[in-house]
Amino acid sequence: MSAINASELYLPGIIAIFSASLYYFLIQPAILSPLVKVPKAHWSCSISPAWILRARFDGRENRTLYEAHKQLGPIVRVGPNELSINNIEAVKTVYQGGFDKHQWYSVFDNFGVPCMFSSVQGKHHSARKRIVSHVYSKSYINTSASLAAQSDVILNSRLMPLLDSSTSESQIPHGLDVHSLFCAVAMDFISAYCFGIRRSTNFIQNKAYREHWLKLYTTRKGYGFFAQELPLLSKVANYLGVNLTPDWVTATNRELESWCKKLSDATVTALQKAENVTPNTADDPVVVRAILSGFEKEKANGPESPIYSTAILQPELSVASEVFDHVLAGQETTGVALTYLSHHLSQSLDLQRLLRTELLSLKPNLSLQQGKIATSDSKQLDNLPILHAMIMETVRRYAPAGGPEPRVTPSPSCNIGPYEVPGGTRVSASAYNIHRDENIYPDPEKWDHTRWLSAEAVDRSRKHVDKQFWGFSSGGRMCLGSNFVMHDMKLTIAAIYSNYTTHIVNDEGIEQTDAYTGHPKSNSLYIRFEKLA
Ligand code: HEM
Ligand SMILES: *[C@@H]1O[C@H](CO)[C@@H](O)[C@H](O)[C@H]1NC(C)=O
Ligand SMILES: *[C@@H]1O[C@H](CO)[C@@H](O)[C@H](O)[C@H]1NC(C)=O
Ligand SMILES: *[C@@H]1O[C@H](CO)[C@@H](O)[C@H](O)[C@H]1NC(C)=O
Ligand SMILES: *[C@@H]1O[C@H](CO)[C@@H](O)[C@H](O)[C@H]1NC(C)=O
Repeated sequence: MSAINASELYLPGIIAIFSASLYYFLIQPAILSPLVKVPKAHWSCSISPAWILRARFDGRENRTLYEAHKQLGPIVRVGPNELSINNIEAVKTVYQGGFDKHQWYSVFDNFGVPCMFSSVQGKHHSARKRIVSHVYSKSYINTSASLAAQSDVILNSRLMPLLDSSTSESQIPHGLDVHSLFCAVAMDFISAYCFGIRRSTNFIQNKAYREHWLKLYTTRKGYGFFAQELPLLSKVANYLGVNLTPDWVTATNRELESWCKKLSDATVTALQKAENVTPNTADDPVVVRAILSGFEKEKANGPESPIYSTAILQPELSVASEVFDHVLAGQETTGVALTYLSHHLSQSLDLQRLLRTELLSLKPNLSLQQGKIATSDSKQLDNLPILHAMIMETVRRYAPAGGPEPRVTPSPSCNIGPYEVPGGTRVSASAYNIHRDENIYPDPEKWDHTRWLSAEAVDRSRKHVDKQFWGFSSGGRMCLGSNFVMHDMKLTIAAIYSNYTTHIVNDEGIEQTDAYTGHPKSNSLYIRFEKLA
């Protein structure tokens, strides 16, 4: 074949590929897409995701989106196929509208098996949610004898004695690193609820292992970018022998997974043998029990079940995947919220006094009697307005899971605000920014618990304050653990401030990182506990 013939053959192909690319990468997104009507955060956003990817990679997505919304309004185009939204009406459309999660979440599959959190499709998600959500409902949490017994062990046998020993002369100058300690408290609470106390963690007392674990966790965190944001590139690079996620990160993930698998397997075995799993005691593995019995029921649906290939064919892995997510979701977020709340309280003895006065109105109060506090009455605890306000304000101002939560618009298209949005568009809101609406939360950077108590407590404006709160997200994919954490945070704060005052020793690096789950930059906060006379 002559050269002329070859070019006659290839040229039309080249032209076709070139024009197709021109169409798909330029003309379609920049001229024909209905998204052209949406204000662009940057001139390049209609043809390239590079601008938003860069902000994400650099850990300044929140600030970047904040500025974009301030200038351009509540709905902004941040990429050829991506929107950011920042008002509660649009949030309602997307999150209460049951839009599916974006593929972004699939990196949260554990052991290669999806859990409730990582399930992308609604159908798979509801099957998993049905199985486990009742044990996290408010009415279950506030009457669970198992949880009450677990709380008693965690607070009375672990936390209170530890705080007591921290007040000895030799300990005082250093204070306690409460970021590490509160992550431990959170882990002990959630793992006890999942596995039963005797099979759960004792991170409060086992400081060495806790710090090792936290180090693994922290290390793993920063390295999700390529797998999450550029999955195709990651796969191609991997194929060519370049691993964009370093091997040691993968090794760290494996160590954490196998740690959880052991706890989970031991619990499944104990339930099968009916050994040390007595209902309504501290050893009751409430969550694993619920999951196993849910899987058992799901079996009746056979291969028709949307979770057949996972929950039914691989039950051990599926249980472990689900509970691994609960312990991970529960420990850092809760630890961070308690850290920031204690940071604020430690700056003001007046605030502590105000809180304590309310706490001591509990009957019985939580002040130590022979070294123990009563942990039983969750209804009274739940009804303390100042405690509630302080926790809400902390989760508002320092949203521990504050980053954008990507969803996907349904096909063929939908309306968000005044815009028509084609199906398959990535769209997200973030608690960091939803919580900074000055019309609802004036002076939003200020931590001010009275927003939740103000004189208008009963009128409209108070309703707005509640309605705009998005610390646990909203709709069908809102936080599964919100009642659980409200309960364990209230109990922990009440136990501490009924009996101690706290003072800052070292708060260097307390500023929160800009990440999907933000934490103090230093991962630490040193506080000194002083026993009340
Ligand atoms: C202060 C503590 C916590 C905060 C601020 C928090 C916040 C959130 C937020 C914002 C979401 C939505 C995330 C998204 O869609 O991208 C979420 C989902 C979730 N959270 Fe939490 N969470 C906390 C504690 C917990 C605990 C203790 C558990 C334990 C069970 C938990 C389990 C979950 C699960 C399973 C989901 C996924 C729900 C679904 O996809 O249907 N969280 N959480
Ligand atoms: C707390 O309750 C105990 C009895 O349960 C009581 O003796 C004590 O005086 C109470 N403390 C305060 C400050 O009310
Ligand atoms: C538990 O929560 C439910 C639902 O909010 C409420 O109706 C009930 O009164 C609460 N019970 C207790 C004992 O706190
Ligand atoms: C705990 O605090 C209460 C009042 O806040 C006090 O009466 C009690 O003595 C304290 N107990 C201990 C052991 O510090
Ligand atoms: C989010 O952005 C706002 C506005 O720039 C800033 O005040 C806030 O500290 C940021 N929060 C985080 C966690 O990055």
